[in-house]
Amino acid sequence: MTQSVKGMRDLWGTELAYFQFIERACHQIMESHGYQEIRTPIVESTDLFSRGVGSTTDIVNKEMYTFRDRSDRSLTLRPENTASVVRAIIQNKLLESNDPLHLFYIGPMFRYERMQAGRYRQFWQIGAESIGIASPESEVESIIMLFDFLTSLGLGDLSLSINSVGFPEERASFYVALKAFVKDREQAFCEDCRRRIEDNPLRVLDCKVSSCQTALTGHPEILNFLSNESQSHHEKFQKCLQSSRIPFLSNPKMVRGLDYYTRTTFEVLSSDLGAQSALLGGGRYDRLIQDLGGPPTPAFGWAIGLDRLVSLVMKKNISLPSKPRILLIPVGETMINDAFELARSLWADGHSVELETRGVPLKKSLSSANRKGHSHAFILGESEKAKGIITVKFLMTGKQEEWLLSEISSRILHI
Ligand code: HAM
Repeated sequence: MTQSVKGMRDLWGTELAYFQFIERACHQIMESHGYQEIRTPIVESTDLFSRGVGSTTDIVNKEMYTFRDRSDRSLTLRPENTASVVRAIIQNKLLESNDPLHLFYIGPMFRYERMQAGRYRQFWQIGAESIGIASPESEVESIIMLFDFLTSLGLGDLSLSINSVGFPEERASFYVALKAFVKDREQAFCEDCRRRIEDNPLRVLDCKVSSCQTALTGHPEILNFLSNESQSHHEKFQKCLQSSRIPFLSNPKMVRGLDYYTRTTFEVLSSDLGAQSALLGGGRYDRLIQDLGGPPTPAFGWAIGLDRLVSLVMKKNISLPSKPRILLIPVGETMINDAFELARSLWADGHSVELETRGVPLKKSLSSANRKGHSHAFILGESEKAKGIITVKFLMTGKQEEWLLSEISSRILHI
């Protein structure tokens, strides 16, 4: 039998119900903060990501699903969505008025990563991008929305790690200091880090190899090398977080795996996620829009790993809002049309009702309803019709009641 591709999975049943619950909560919170949804294609030109995410990053070097189409164009399944959103706003001229833009997205991303629990090759992200505002306050507004969202899902106890990586031109003197530090202890670093220190020194700081992390003890900290403006931006950001009562920790090693960040970077980790502890990450990217051909425009955003968010919410036993699941069963060959009539009036009132159309004996329908987790069976036979009622069977308790046909819709609201 043909199986799904390694690292790409089907979603259904309870797990999908959690995805949908979280997606609904996401739409609500984004709308209340004035963020509008954007949907971009899953496939983009490869150069969007090599230019946007950075040609020396792991994502571009090792993890992209890149292929040639029938016209020999190099295309890539999006590994992330910030570069795509930026392309979309430039292409569709969404920046012309110079007003700020607040956009969000929910969708699948693709990275050819080594398989581990919580790491998929097709995974889902919820992301928010705030475009056109340079202030630290706009960063805090976006983070407040993020924390309100996580709190509304029952995850109020997560902590934020923050750092600033400044602008590329401010990093030169930091790189000199970091290179000298690594050179002094070269043997203690892995082969990848010895290469990275030449190609992309920031990447050494977030190497996952534990001996490299030990070797980094006492490393030069990027914040000390930044301009006065970047340092004061970072201070304002921290003060604003404090006054907004968002707890945070400074982490001088947190530089993120994508090259477009400028100044503020942040992540939220959770020990409940095991080895893949990053729940979300983001930061400021004030050069990306210009680098991809748009006008110079500051921007800030983040993305949550939705698969990981769902697993956290499920682990914490946060229960889903439950609605009655009703199976309407016509009994006897003559009752199907009456059942259609009744079901259509209940559907029109917004109730969720499944209709038994197999024409099987009542006992068989009831066993299916029990197996499939229905909460109630509505039984409609000749005798019910004659009395103008329906028999309601509460499947959890076995209790049975008779309801007037005219009252069904309003009584469903109270079960
Ligand atoms: P990222 O840190 O690469 O950032 O990804 C964000 C989140 O996506 C991660 O924290 C993680 O939860 C989830 N994620 C990443 N890879 C996988 C995977 N293989 N399986 C499951 N979940 C995964 C970005 O993508 C940036 N675009 C975020 C951003 C938006 N920055 C500014 N705006």
